[in-house]
Amino acid sequence: MKIAVGSDHAGYELKEKIETHLIEQGKDVENYGTNGNDSVDYPDFAVAVAEAVSKGRMDRGILVCGTGIGMSIAANKFPHVRAALCYDVFSAEMSRKHNNANILVLAGRVLDSEVALKMVDAWLKTEFEGGRHKNRLDKISEIEKKFMKGAK
Ligand code: RB5
Repeated sequence: MKIAVGSDHAGYELKEKIETHLIEQGKDVENYGTNGNDSVDYPDFAVAVAEAVSKGRMDRGILVCGTGIGMSIAANKFPHVRAALCYDVFSAEMSRKHNNANILVLAGRVLDSEVALKMVDAWLKTEFEGGRHKNRLDKISEIEKKFMKGAK
């Protein structure tokens, strides 16, 4: 599984911890920046990660900004992206089980980093349950086809 990680300055430190944590586990992780504490614009990094997931170059993405809100708004503009802003292990697991989330969005200014790493682990190992949840996601795909330019 190829995992893209990205953040703005407010998510930088947590994103770096996540990257290190994933590398220690032998995961295939690619860092899309930002690579320092200098102020940057979160949409630039949301676009990089979300486009890679949308086009299938990456299987999963993890995005971090201050609250996670801006990253989730931007990432969800891309077809086939299901970016879930989660604040605890339960919501991270549910975003996989019920929503088949392919991008996990985290809040660097809110979350304790130990909790965030537990969320990442839970999110990566939890499978989508399919069934009735797939029917609901199919409805979201229909919205993409109807309203998103270029979506198939
Ligand atoms: C940056 O100051 C902050 O606005 C950003 O990290 C994020 O929280 C936006 O939603």
